[in-house]
This record gives sequence, structure tokens and C-alpha cells, in this order.
Amino acid sequence: MMDATGSADGRIAGYDFGTSASARSPLTFEELSHLEQTVGWTRDDEQLMRKHAELFRSKAEEMVGSWRAVIGAQPHLSQWFVGAEGMPDEEYKARVKPRFVQWVVDVATRPHDRAWLDYQEEIGLRHTPAKKNRTDGRHTPPLVPMRYLLGFVPVVTDVRGFLSAGIANAAELEAVQRAWTKAVHLHVTLWCRAYAREGLW
Ligand code: HEM
Repeated sequence: MMDATGSADGRIAGYDFGTSASARSPLTFEELSHLEQTVGWTRDDEQLMRKHAELFRSKAEEMVGSWRAVIGAQPHLSQWFVGAEGMPDEEYKARVKPRFVQWVVDVATRPHDRAWLDYQEEIGLRHTPAKKNRTDGRHTPPLVPMRYLLGFVPVVTDVRGFLSAGIANAAELEAVQRAWTKAVHLHVTLWCRAYAREGLW
């Protein structure tokens, strides 16, 4: 029987973090560090996210549900979840969702090590013809255009409403919101590599 993770054994189907199925990132840690400095990501941000990891874990599903509702309300976005017969591919959505939820937890908890960097390469590719649909064997359109990946960032960065009940201190809430925003920018920037012509990223 399938459980909430979409798999029989509690593992999230298609979540290939740290496995040989994940793409490899060509980035060096020096290049990553330059990008982290550019978005302003610091050790303090990392520690703050870690401190509130349980809050992110408890809210992750709700966050993803709200972001998905934004996609669902805009046909020019939801079209990338539509199957060959012209109907929304509910199985595809159900399979991708737990990986999206896990991503929220990963943003709050994972160190930026090689496995993490590699999986960002993989997530980028999964939005492009190189790997979209492959993980779940689906037949939806092969690309989420990069402009929508970037355009969706403000939707995903505004998490204050999800966190406010768990962080009473207003300054700390603001700091977590800022850290999350930087983290999302870092992730999406890494994912854009999959779209960029060689040498231009
Ligand atoms: C800030 C913007 C976005 C974030 C943070 C995000 C995040 C994610 C994550 C974490 C996954 C799962 C990765 C995995 O397999 O482990 C995913 C997959 C996916 N996302 Fe996005 N996404 C964004 C924008 C969009 C937009 C705008 C669309 C289209 C409306 C979209 C459509 C998809 C689809 C179709 C998949 C499944 C890809 C596959 O076939 O494996 N995403 N996204």
C-alpha cells in the first residue's frame, strides 16, 4: 500500500538526493561560495533555518499546497501538469508533491555539500526537456519555461504567514523570512543552469 510519501516503503518515489540517479553539478565549491556571497547567504542564515527546521517541516505540506493552488488557478501555469489526453495528470501531481514538500525541509536542513549541489542540478534538469516527466514516466509537456520558474519566486518566498504562529519574536520572524528568501534565490539560480547555453550561465 502507498503511504503519504507516495511509495510503499516510506521512501519518496523519485527523490534521488544523494544517489547515483542524481545528476552531477559541474560547479566547484568556490563558484558556489561566490554565488552564496552574491545572494548574501551566511552561516547565520544557515543556523537560523536549522533552528526553525521543525517549523518548516510542520508547515511544508501546507506551503506546497498553497503554491500549487496558485499554479492551479492559472491555466498558463497548470498546462505543464496536463497529460497527453488534455486532462490534468493527477498521478503526476501526486508523485511530484512529496518531493516538493521534501525540498522545503531540505532547504531548512541540508548542508550545502556535494550531494546537495548535485541535486540542485537534478531539480533544474527536471524542469527542462532533459528530464521533465522522466522520473515519473509521464507524458505532460516537456518544459517549464525558465521565465515562469523565475516569475514564481515571489510566490514561494513569502512564507511569513506560515511561520508567524511559530515565531513570536518579530525581528526573528523577519530574519527567517529573509534567510528563506535568499535560500530560494540561491536554489532557483542553480536550477537555471539547466536552461543556459554552455558558458553563459
Ligand atoms: C520558485 C519556483 C519553483 C520552485 C521552488 C519549484 C520547486 C520544485 C521542486 C522542489 C520540484 C521537485 C523536484 C524533485 O523531483 O525532487 C519541482 C518539480 C516540478 N515543478 Fe517546480 N518549482 C518552481 C516553479 C515551477 C513552475 C512555475 C512550474 C510550472 C507551473 C513548475 C512545475 C514543476 C513540475 C511539472 C515538476 C515535476 C518535474 C518532473 O517531471 O520531474 N515548477 N519543482
